[in-house]
Amino acid sequence: MFTKTAEYYDALYHFKDYEEAGNALHALIQHQAPQAASLLDVACGTGKHLAYLHNRYACAGLDLNPELLAVAQKRCLTVPFHHADMTDFQLPETFDVVACLFSSIGYVQTVENLRKAVACFTRHLNPGGLLVIEPWITPENYWIDKITANFVDQPNLKIAWMYTSQLHGLTSVFDINYLVGTAEGVTSFTESHIMGLWTDAEYREAIEAAGVAVNYDPKGLFGRGMYYGTKA
Ligand SMILES: C[S@@+](CC[C@H](N)C(=O)[O-])C[C@H]1O[C@@H](n2cnc3c(N)ncnc32)[C@H](O)[C@@H]1O
Repeated sequence: MFTKTAEYYDALYHFKDYEEAGNALHALIQHQAPQAASLLDVACGTGKHLAYLHNRYACAGLDLNPELLAVAQKRCLTVPFHHADMTDFQLPETFDVVACLFSSIGYVQTVENLRKAVACFTRHLNPGGLLVIEPWITPENYWIDKITANFVDQPNLKIAWMYTSQLHGLTSVFDINYLVGTAEGVTSFTESHIMGLWTDAEYREAIEAAGVAVNYDPKGLFGRGMYYGTKA
């Protein structure tokens, strides 16, 4: 995923207000873990949340995609970034907050990987530290065969991207068609995004099994809900 679109990532998600999300996450941290001084953003993408957090906490980022990490490093020059898989990573330090935002957790696809990832996040949390996960859609809320279209309209970059929401077993599959126009010309390609559809109970079980209390905010930072809780 994002193998063909890393350079366009920020343009594709121009409709997301990362400053508002960063401020809301900061407010949650101040409420739940006011002593927090360090934060790990797992599946940080191009580092847009970190851009609004790294002046408040000692931050680090982690992602599987090296091209997205390169953008993140340019954006947040002083933040250390790690190239790793969220289901199985081992960093030398632990953190007061571990966050996995904008439904990135869905990309691990299976419920076994959900449990592995959450256990791994929690191993990197200090006692009393705060875990924050913005989930992907639940199976009962997933709209099959829905057509979605998004557009980027910048002076030197035009993108139309479209997909229908398909269901393959217990995963959502978006075979996204992109039409990209720049001064060099117009190209088109597809990219497949496959994500696990898990129930609220499956998220709660994974988080509780990792030793973290479960709280749920139905709105979250981006309207997709948010699980959060502190490690015992
Ligand atoms: C929807 S993007 C969200 C990025 C960022 N959190 C944001 O809000 O803009 C999903 C991210 O998950 C990352 N990702 C997917 N699978 C991963 C894995 N197994 N380990 C680490 N990162 C992964 C992708 O590379 C991508 O950066």
